[in-house]
Amino acid sequence: MMDMRKFYYRQIEKILSVLWMVVLLCGCSQNNKERYTIGFSQCTGDDEWRKAMLDDMKRELAFYSDTRLIFKDANANSNTQIKQIRELLNNGIDLLIVSPNEAEPVTPVIEEAFKKGIPVVVVDRRTSSSYYTAYVGGDNYQVGKAAGQYIAALLNKKGKIIEITGLPKSSPANDRHRGLKEAIKPYPEITLVETLNGEWEKKQAKEQLSKVIHLYPDLDLIFAQNEVMAQGAHEVCMQQFPGRQIKIVGVDGLPGAFGDIQMVYDKLITATALYPTGGEEAVRVAMNILRKQPFQRENLLQTAIIDSSNVRMIKMQTDKLLEQQKDIERQQSRIDEQLRIYKTQKVLLYLMTGLLVAAIILGSIALYSLVENKKINKELKAQSDEILRQRNQIQEIAEKAQEATESKFRFFTNISHEFRTPLTLIIGPVEDLLNQRKDENQVRKNLVLIQRNAQRLLRLVNQLMDFRKVESGKIRIQARLIDLNSFLKDIMEPFEFTAKRRKIDFRLISRFSALEVWFDEDMLDKVLFNLLSNAFKYTEDHGRIYLFLEQTPGFVLIKVEDNGSGMSESDALRAFEMFYQGGNAVRGTGLGLPLSRELVELHQGTIDVKSKLNEGTIFTVSIPSGKDHLNPEDIVIEDRGLRLGHINKPIIDTEDSAGVSFGNLAGAEAPSVLIIEDDDDLRGFLYELLKGKFQIIMASDGRSGLEKCFDTAPDLVVCDIMLPEMDGLKITSTLKGDLRTSHIPVMLLTAKNSVEQQVEGMHTGADLYLTKPFSSQLLIESISSLLINRKILRSWNVSNASSETPGNLSRLDKKFLNDLKAAILSGISDPDLSVEALGRELGLSRVQLFRKAKALLGCGINDMILNMRLEKACVLLNDSELSIAEVADRVGFATQSYFSTVFKAKYGTSPKDFKGSVR
Ligand code: FRU
Repeated sequence: MMDMRKFYYRQIEKILSVLWMVVLLCGCSQNNKERYTIGFSQCTGDDEWRKAMLDDMKRELAFYSDTRLIFKDANANSNTQIKQIRELLNNGIDLLIVSPNEAEPVTPVIEEAFKKGIPVVVVDRRTSSSYYTAYVGGDNYQVGKAAGQYIAALLNKKGKIIEITGLPKSSPANDRHRGLKEAIKPYPEITLVETLNGEWEKKQAKEQLSKVIHLYPDLDLIFAQNEVMAQGAHEVCMQQFPGRQIKIVGVDGLPGAFGDIQMVYDKLITATALYPTGGEEAVRVAMNILRKQPFQRENLLQTAIIDSSNVRMIKMQTDKLLEQQKDIERQQSRIDEQLRIYKTQKVLLYLMTGLLVAAIILGSIALYSLVENKKINKELKAQSDEILRQRNQIQEIAEKAQEATESKFRFFTNISHEFRTPLTLIIGPVEDLLNQRKDENQVRKNLVLIQRNAQRLLRLVNQLMDFRKVESGKIRIQARLIDLNSFLKDIMEPFEFTAKRRKIDFRLISRFSALEVWFDEDMLDKVLFNLLSNAFKYTEDHGRIYLFLEQTPGFVLIKVEDNGSGMSESDALRAFEMFYQGGNAVRGTGLGLPLSRELVELHQGTIDVKSKLNEGTIFTVSIPSGKDHLNPEDIVIEDRGLRLGHINKPIIDTEDSAGVSFGNLAGAEAPSVLIIEDDDDLRGFLYELLKGKFQIIMASDGRSGLEKCFDTAPDLVVCDIMLPEMDGLKITSTLKGDLRTSHIPVMLLTAKNSVEQQVEGMHTGADLYLTKPFSSQLLIESISSLLINRKILRSWNVSNASSETPGNLSRLDKKFLNDLKAAILSGISDPDLSVEALGRELGLSRVQLFRKAKALLGCGINDMILNMRLEKACVLLNDSELSIAEVADRVGFATQSYFSTVFKAKYGTSPKDFKGSVR
């Protein structure tokens, strides 16, 4: 994908650079149009003739769009002109057009330019050297001569003339003067009385003329060398001699309202000699030079005299020309505008073309990418399908592996579970034998050996099962606030005897008399029992095992320190690894320490070890103090009932159990116990254990057990949890949910030993939960105490037949008793109130009602009815004005005498005396 992106970027870069080139080319093409730069140095620029010359040039230049004109006006100052020509040269002009203000001063700089290789076109006024490329201008000598010949003819070869010249150092002034003199030379009667320097300027001409004109009262004509000086001469004549008809002949022949053609037309001056500007011609010659085309070096323009004879026609022509000129200018500006638009559009067109090209390229790239993408997607899809397939395969393999692990664990758990029943059957009889054979030393020793090893095996099995629970996350801590100090003492107790025997210095070092900590008693018991067992295992006789109880901020530390064989550094590092068994110092099965660590970690605590080979080992368990680190569900509200069957304490209770209050009741009067157990051996063992004390009924699966319970209504049920057909929890909940059996105490007996399972058992309504392997004594005691509780309850019920039901009955039994009492009270005045009628009302058969009442109350229904009649009679005798006969009737006695007999039998006094004593 990255490659594709790079490819796109590269393409876009290319397109942009192409566009940039297009724009540059546009720019370049415009620059190309200005291939030549012509510098034009004008001696003066503000008179009409010069303006006409510039216009002529520009008009001609319009045909050469590749040439640029830089115009400089020297304002009739030669020094300024020299400076400006240098500037032009510095600007890098390709050609210089110059009209020198004065020949002498300006010639050197023009020569300089020429010598540098810059072509020079001299216009109008000449330089004083031949270092120029071409000359364009009127033939000034011819102008002067034509004017002189015209004047001679006009004056009829006789008269006085004043000449006003231009700058004496400028070539036209000299040439025109020469021409004039030459023309009048053949006519001696024509006198040039004055030649005045008018400097080509009107003002100067007027000043000079005014000074001398009055000296020549017979003056016939004034020849002014240009148009403006002719104008000035006319004004002087009009001012000073308005009545005199002094003829004025000028030069230039400028068209337009203020030109000298108009003046001839208006008869302000007599005539004028045409002096063309030569602007257009100058540009044409210049362009030929620049384009290396043939040109003429000397380009002399012709002259003509304009006077009253031809002025009308010439004026018409020049006016027409001016108009056309304007039209051309308008057209030109339109063309310029169109050109501008055209240029803009051309740029736009280039851009559009560029964009179009870009779009086409991008489109192609997009198309290409689409095709490529499709290909890539196809490949990706194939890859992803392959990955998916592989993933599924892996998943399948993982599932199989998981299944295999699960079944392995199941196998381990089940096998461990299976170990527990035979272990029970070893430990139980051994315990019995130990009780019986107190004097036979050797037998006893062997039995103790069997017992110890069976317990050891049991511990291993338990650890294995615990591990499974931790691994599957099914174990949860059940923390209580317990005094850790005395807890540690309790844990140490089973080891005291060994310590004494092996002369091991075994002690608890604690500065606390009591230290209350939240922890799971069962779990910490396992951890510390394991650590102490290890310490005793690896410590020599006469060694030392210290248990330290310490406190650090936020934590409680328990250290188990021994000076035994210790571990190497590498063994210590791996001590908590599952199934790791160290080199020299083999520590147990490799299960105890990892399990301990899991259990401590469930408390958010840590366990670590420091050990040195041949010096000893210190295990430190650290658990947080307080209970903030615990979840609410980790905390147990104290309930002694749940702790009855706590089994993980090693079974060392070899003392005779306390006397059983039922004694040996195996006769018909003995309470009946239903044993529901599928393991034949265990069922047989239980039978043997209980047969002398109770009447035994047995079932080997759940369903038949339940049926037998309904059939026989035993006094107590001992039931395994894991049973074929129906499990013990279901049996319990069914029994407790049925009015016929809800009163029967149920003791669950099982290998399952997690607190959750115990709680689950209790929730079904079980009265007691005993886990295998159990102590025979504990079993017998537990059965006895449950039956005693029933007995106490019964006696309470009998003596309080009509009062409140006791709180320790099940909800269903309480309801049953309340309903029974209510039914009896409502029919109490009926002497024929029968068990059948009550049973019908309560939904039980006569036999069922009889059995249930007997079990709960210890007496028959009839006894209860009688008791309640008599209790009610007492109330009536106490409270009302009723007669004895009426009371007897109200409480359902058919005759007063029978009532009196029964009353006396119960209370030892007759109803009459009872009533009398109340009063
Ligand atoms: C304009 C002008 C013209 C004349 C020419 C001579 O500046 O004075 O009137 O003919 O120059 O160079």
